[in-house]
Amino acid sequence: MSFKPAEWPRRLRSQEWYGGTTKDVIYHRGWLKNQGYPEDLFDGRPIIGVLNTWSDLTPCNGHLRELAEKVKAGIWEAGGFPVEVPVFSASENTFRPTAMMFRNLAALSIEEQIRGQPIDGCVLMVGCDKTTPSLLMAAASCDLPSIVVTGGPMLNGWFQGERVGAGTHLWRFSEAVKAGEMTQQEFLDAEAAVTRSSGTCNTMGTASSMASMSEALGMALSGNAAIPAVDSRRRVMAQLSGRRIVQMVKDDLKPSDILTREAFENAIRCNGAVGGSTNTVVHLLAIAGRTGVDITLDDWDRCGRDVATILNLQPSGKYLMEEFFYAGGLPVVLKRLGEADKLHKDALTVSGSTIWDEVRDAKNWNEDVILPADKPLTAQGGIAVLKGNLAPKGAVLKPSAASPHLMQHRGRAVVFEDIDDYKAQINDDALDIDETCIMVLKNCGPKGYPGMAEVGNMGLPPKVLKKGIKDMIRISDARMSGTAYGTVILHTSPEAAASGPLAVVRTGDMIEVDVAARRLHLEISDDELSARLAEWTPIHERPDSGYAWLHQQHVQGADTGADLDFLKGCRGAPVGKDSH
Ligand code: FES
Repeated sequence: MSFKPAEWPRRLRSQEWYGGTTKDVIYHRGWLKNQGYPEDLFDGRPIIGVLNTWSDLTPCNGHLRELAEKVKAGIWEAGGFPVEVPVFSASENTFRPTAMMFRNLAALSIEEQIRGQPIDGCVLMVGCDKTTPSLLMAAASCDLPSIVVTGGPMLNGWFQGERVGAGTHLWRFSEAVKAGEMTQQEFLDAEAAVTRSSGTCNTMGTASSMASMSEALGMALSGNAAIPAVDSRRRVMAQLSGRRIVQMVKDDLKPSDILTREAFENAIRCNGAVGGSTNTVVHLLAIAGRTGVDITLDDWDRCGRDVATILNLQPSGKYLMEEFFYAGGLPVVLKRLGEADKLHKDALTVSGSTIWDEVRDAKNWNEDVILPADKPLTAQGGIAVLKGNLAPKGAVLKPSAASPHLMQHRGRAVVFEDIDDYKAQINDDALDIDETCIMVLKNCGPKGYPGMAEVGNMGLPPKVLKKGIKDMIRISDARMSGTAYGTVILHTSPEAAASGPLAVVRTGDMIEVDVAARRLHLEISDDELSARLAEWTPIHERPDSGYAWLHQQHVQGADTGADLDFLKGCRGAPVGKDSH
């Protein structure tokens, strides 16, 4: 840690709008005064943008307006001037064709909202899956002092005496209905039981994973990730974060001081330890791309390879985020990584202290939730990056959510050309498929869907489910929900729609998967593969206007984070010209 706080007082960027007596300053300041702000609030104190992803159609973030009041209280207390700014909110459970297509649009719009307005620092109020990476990407590109406040997870769901996780049990119950093990009415009865309070998915899905990543990266105060949305301590965390951002602005403690290679390596290892979502791979790669830190898929494999999953949470394990909080939360996991020499202890955090200073005294209050080192959920918990002629640029698999007996397997491909083809065929008992086959789904990557939907965890064919089989190998260029599970190989790169080898797999081809050897191999000759690729043509028409066109023209591969090519890098936050 080599951070040296800036001198204070000094002139902040907001003073370019509000400091002085020129016509333009009077115009900017006078109009803001119509909200009833006294003169002394324009004396050069930090103006903090509370960037809020609240929306009625982002229900996971539905409580963030109330939480923002606590953030603002903290900002006032510390001598700052809070301004709440609604920003693009992409909900996982609402946006079509997939919220992922809009992560980059959100990041683009929020970046410009920060840059174009009189803000000295940002509180990133996030929760649902894409809201966290989009705001972190924007903040990294602007490099103004920023702190993450997540909305927190929902309370535990309970149904028929069983702990039920958001998302995870949706997939599980859906399969149980198809297998004849659950009635449709029971499935409907479970609906509200799974999502019984405000907050994000209560499993270690993508929202909880990205909340954990924010804390492991050092971009949120220690302990932020696991506090339930409705717990009063969530509101305390919000208020403390509001106080903290004011000092961060005075010190000029920026994302570029925090988001170092060491911070990303800490986050990658943390993701393995908590059994985090595969979606964190694309999001962290994209955030790193905004900072200029050269993190690659190989770093994911190298850093995660020997990290054990010690968190017994769904979808990999048994418990939910509420119990994780009661057990001590993420500081305990980070402390355990530090004790195992798998944490860069000197990495700086938004607190101004090192990550080790924040977690060294953490205590584990439940060893069935945060497991002892000698009894991990999975010894090799990090994301495995497979490569081979089927995925020259890599594909990912989450070992903690996969079946051990399928980690080395050779099977006959059953190919679905796109998601509609899958839906048309999967329930047909005439489909020539059994549990030894490998299901292959094409054209669901960043360009293909478009937007890289969470459809990689294809449901199994009913005739296989009825045999009591719960898992088969599935390969695609799609993502899967962080709440999902199974031996699911994802993000295959290059994707089919970009003429990757996945595009030319045929039903009946043999595929070899060897996770220990990190191998994903299509058993055809190089000449045959080249000949098939030479004949390949895209199966879908490309959009010719609107954002879908922009996205498809410029989105990069999943192996580098699926950002838009022209958004990579940090552009800073110059104050620009006056508007009049
Ligand atoms: Fe929003 Fe899971 S769908 S957090």
